[in-house]
Amino acid sequence: MKLIRATEDDMPVLTAIEETARDLIVYNWGFTDEEMRQWIRDETVYLIEEDGVIVGDISYRVKDTDYAYVSGLIIAPEFQRRGLARKAMGMLLEELREFDRVSLDVHPDNHAVKLYESLGFVASGREDNLYGDGQPRIIMTRECDTKERDDSI
Ligand SMILES: CC(C)(COP(=O)(O)OP(=O)(O)OC[C@H]1O[C@@H](n2cnc3c(N)ncnc32)[C@H](O)[C@@H]1OP(=O)(O)O)[C@@H](O)C(=O)NCCC(=O)NCCS
Repeated sequence: MKLIRATEDDMPVLTAIEETARDLIVYNWGFTDEEMRQWIRDETVYLIEEDGVIVGDISYRVKDTDYAYVSGLIIAPEFQRRGLARKAMGMLLEELREFDRVSLDVHPDNHAVKLYESLGFVASGREDNLYGDGQPRIIMTRECDTKERDDSI
């Protein structure tokens, strides 16, 4: 698996991937072109490539020197349930290992909650209408274990 930094040239492929989740209540779908440009410019957005095929995207933004926020993760339906989201999150967390805290938000009914729990994220808050769609989100946070980080040096 490779995480490839997305540029504005990748907007068509990103749009196609995001479109696959259009009807999901548990996903915050919908970018205008300008919002997508801003996402690519202001955050770190990766295309997830597996065996030469773009299968999804994953992104984060730095909120503070010690705090990063995973802002997106999606795997296109035909590639789901093969461990690809788990693998991509593992790679991203490795990249973010110097951050003391990594957070994300997820709809409580999204099966991604289980994935995040298994990677050490715990519920740290709740927002009733984070994206203005009337749907709740759980904030999940993973505190970096200092010992774990020291051991890996
Ligand atoms: C959530 C999503 C990224 C998971 O991608 P994936 O590549 O299929 O996930 P994985 O195969 O790596 O599975 C990881 C874990 O997620 C959970 N999971 C994933 N799909 C599941 C499903 N259909 N039903 C139940 N649990 C599921 C399981 O706990 C799984 O672990 P396991 O295989 O050890 O049981 C994918 O379903 C998706 O893109 N959904 C639409 C967008 C979205 O909701 N993104 C998350 C936003 S927070």
